Amino acid sequence: MTQKPKHILRSQDFTIPWLENLFTLTDALKYRYLHEDTRYREQLATLLRGKIMYAIFGEPSTRTRFSFTMAAKRLGMHPQWTEDASKFSSSVKGEVSEHSARVLLSYRPDVFVIRHSVEGVAETAARISDEYFRGIPIINAGDGEGQHPTQALVDIYTIFKKKGGLNNLTVAIGGDLLRGRTCHSLVYLLAKYPGIEFIFLSPQELAMREDILEYLSRHNVPFHSDRFEISALASSDVVYWTRTQTERGDIRVRPEIAEKYTIGLREVEIMKNDAILLHPMPINGEIKQEVDRDKKALYFEQAENGLYVRMAILCDIFGVEP
Ligand code: NCD
Repeated sequence: MTQKPKHILRSQDFTIPWLENLFTLTDALKYRYLHEDTRYREQLATLLRGKIMYAIFGEPSTRTRFSFTMAAKRLGMHPQWTEDASKFSSSVKGEVSEHSARVLLSYRPDVFVIRHSVEGVAETAARISDEYFRGIPIINAGDGEGQHPTQALVDIYTIFKKKGGLNNLTVAIGGDLLRGRTCHSLVYLLAKYPGIEFIFLSPQELAMREDILEYLSRHNVPFHSDRFEISALASSDVVYWTRTQTERGDIRVRPEIAEKYTIGLREVEIMKNDAILLHPMPINGEIKQEVDRDKKALYFEQAENGLYVRMAILCDIFGVEP
């Protein structure tokens, strides 16, 4: 096996054994955290005691930032964050991200979690880290329209637990496939498993990125792209829905088209009995609230898994056993 990369930047970099190890760590953490006595929690809080995690978020975040900082605290780390780096850091004054990254890394955090509106910024930070700071690990927590690999880990962990594996699944991914970075990272991860088949459902102007379609073709992963088709929901094991990324430019989707991409109880009813409905959240109306209590709707559990998956990621980075 090739050596594991120091940074978490893109889903393509993961290997199946690495993913399996993360699932095992996540299982142990989740189970023990929820079922063992308080001594286990106290023990956990010594695992990474004193280490510093930067969480520098240049775009809004609820789940990713909270789950990362909560994960760090539960492992005894000190998270250091900015509320909104696009307003409260020198990027407001026009500082280029290379300079910000080089200075922030020079204060020597132990790990640097970064979210930015521009694709590729996490990779830039990783390059600077390798060049000047002996590879302090960089974690991409979402780079513009690029990727969000730790969200994809949360997503596939949730699928893995509910479906009992990741092979031979038909996965429908719907919404803004052009700019939705969670969809990009999820496709790259799932494409590693045998027998996966994708159905991409989006308005034409938000269709899946060409580079990802080429990647799938090159790796012989079957997919088809379509407009919204109710029959696609009926044949899928997993339905992964996303919002339109309205903050990323002004592609306008006509309201009557947006309306078509809305999942309500009627659509959930059509899904297989044992199918699951996921969403990275935030949901902006594309899944009706009436669905929240349905047993197929797993997005709250998915968000909760974010805490344990991110604890596992931190344990894995520092090579400690929970
Ligand atoms: C996603 C993101 O930031 O890309 N949110 C998240 O991290 N769970 C999805 C989104 O904003 O639509």
